[in-house]
Amino acid sequence: MPPLSEQVILITGASSGIGEAIARRLAPSGARLILTARRAERLQALAAELDPTGARVAAFPADLTRAEHREALVTGTVARFGRIDTLINNAGYGQRGPVERVPLEAIRHNFEVNVFAVVALCQLVAPILRDQGRGRIVNITSVAGRIARPLTSVYDSTKHALEALSDGLRGELKPFGVQVVVIRPGFIATDFVTAASAASAGTLADLGPYTPYMSRLRDGFADLRRLAAGPDVIARCVEHALRARRPRAHYAAPIHAKLFLAARWFFPSRVVDWFIRLRPRPD
Ligand SMILES: NC(=O)c1ccc[n+]([C@@H]2O[C@H](COP(=O)([O-])OP(=O)(O)OC[C@H]3O[C@@H](n4cnc5c(N)ncnc54)[C@H](OP(=O)(O)O)[C@@H]3O)[C@@H](O)[C@H]2O)c1
Repeated sequence: MPPLSEQVILITGASSGIGEAIARRLAPSGARLILTARRAERLQALAAELDPTGARVAAFPADLTRAEHREALVTGTVARFGRIDTLINNAGYGQRGPVERVPLEAIRHNFEVNVFAVVALCQLVAPILRDQGRGRIVNITSVAGRIARPLTSVYDSTKHALEALSDGLRGELKPFGVQVVVIRPGFIATDFVTAASAASAGTLADLGPYTPYMSRLRDGFADLRRLAAGPDVIARCVEHALRARRPRAHYAAPIHAKLFLAARWFFPSRVVDWFIRLRPRPD
């Protein structure tokens, strides 16, 4: 791989949270960055702040669920910077609610953003990386890609799918000099909860018999969110994976993410199920 300072890096979901933090951390290295997400103004403001000359950091607004946007993004990146060295698949959001009550359309959309858009981007970028004989794909999954919980299992299953996809892709691309890395964030203080609540508003408005359980779960999340680290902890992890000559297959951060993953591995499902069981909110 060329040194970070010479790489062309495409970052999805760069308009806020973890993606924005990754852009802020990588920009000073001198790497050329393409920042993408739907909110054009936020992206453009970030690109202008990181590189007022416009020579090294560019905003490319796109809705990643749309094939024509994805194609324009990849061809636009190559037209602008001549190649792509690293693809960071970070864009994503959470769909909440009991499986029984989340409309199939909402489940499909969560998979469109968190899984199919990633698959499609990999299909567009992998041939470029293969032809170069080198490159990296970094997929931001989640602790929820290893531990599925009641009432968030739609989102959790998208991240489980991305984990499996990444593991398979790593083996497929290895002979061609392309490395695939998974980063598993724990609780990170970003707009994620706000976006998840907005995406799930329809479902959450009428939960029927699940209502007291969801209320209690919200309280539990609020408690756990006190563990949340700032998004730069994940950006540092990404930078580490990009600078490593031989990156690990999986990284997790912050420390609570490593502890949850270790507990999932160590304890039998019965114990994990008990720990994450639904409890009604007391009246
Ligand atoms: N925060 C956490 O606790 C946490 C924990 C584990 C994993 N993660 C994962 O980390 C990643 C980043 O999340 P975050 O916490 O930084 O949340 P965030 O601040 O809400 O960022 C999500 C990003 O995804 C973009 N996005 C969403 N839908 C899109 C679409 N259709 N097309 C293009 N871009 C789209 C959003 O941009 P626009 O709205 O401008 O399109 C935004 O930039 C996600 O994959 C999430 O699952 C987060």
